[in-house]
Amino acid sequence: MEKVALITGASGGIGLELATLFAQDKTNLLLIARNKAKLQEIKQLWEKQYPIKVYLVATDLSVIEGFYAIRDFVTQNNLQVEYLVNNAGFGDYGAFVERSIEKFREMISLNISMLVELTYHFAQKMKLNGSGKILNVASTSGFQPDPYFAVYGASKAFVINFTEALHKELEKTGVSATVISPGPTATGFTDKADMEDAKLYKSGVMNAKDVAVIGYKAMHKGKLHVIPGLRNRVMATLSSTMPSGYLRLNLAAKIMEREN
Ligand SMILES: NC(=O)c1ccc[n+]([C@@H]2O[C@H](COP(=O)([O-])OP(=O)(O)OC[C@H]3O[C@@H](n4cnc5c(N)ncnc54)[C@H](OP(=O)(O)O)[C@@H]3O)[C@@H](O)[C@H]2O)c1
Repeated sequence: MEKVALITGASGGIGLELATLFAQDKTNLLLIARNKAKLQEIKQLWEKQYPIKVYLVATDLSVIEGFYAIRDFVTQNNLQVEYLVNNAGFGDYGAFVERSIEKFREMISLNISMLVELTYHFAQKMKLNGSGKILNVASTSGFQPDPYFAVYGASKAFVINFTEALHKELEKTGVSATVISPGPTATGFTDKADMEDAKLYKSGVMNAKDVAVIGYKAMHKGKLHVIPGLRNRVMATLSSTMPSGYLRLNLAAKIMEREN
């Protein structure tokens, strides 16, 4: 069996930077995203540049068929997923009742259901093999209820809570589960989330490469949870230690305000 790192959302942003780090370390890759042309471009480039094999599955991960496509591809190609990076995800900024319920369904399917599905399937195999590493991408939005980012924040709270519990369950199995909670990061995320005018993204935005390096190192060390950037760590610690209630909620609402 050929060992690979499976990375979801590898066509851009943090996922592409994470995939680059695996490629530079000569790890074979299984890249997942919807944009087939972009994935093929990456494959062509990296197979020339690095001594690795790059596989790809272009599929929509917000539907269960996306999972079946990956599962079947892995089986048919005799691959062993040694690293699983659940990175694909998106947000949608604005008042809950004014946004689209279809988008929220898609977000919950991608950010939560698919992450659980892929983790369940591959963590079982990793446990049997006695080796493997999982990296789940959450967000500082997951540390408190986030007004105007309510469903996204809750989806990332799920990812944090779930991954930390899994980390404990997998102790002494040879398998580790790590969660990374980035704060604002310069990627295609803000455009897709409709949040160009969010105050949060006006300062202290990190670049995707720095975030990826921090997550990649933490995953290799089998750490529980990593938060890139001092400002993000301070805010996350504050949110985690403040009692839930109006003070925390009002502070979060202030942070999530529009610029004008
Ligand atoms: N950027 C930030 O400020 C920030 C902060 C905290 C956490 N995060 C988290 O970081 C992760 C990566 O986001 P990013 O910032 O790198 O955003 P991005 O640049 O928009 O990248 C998202 C990736 O996910 C893929 N994707 C989206 N929907 C998909 C679907 N239905 N099926 C398959 N692939 C899908 C996209 O590829 P295709 O479009 O080709 O499918 C793309 O490769 C997300 O989980 C996000 O929540 C981001």
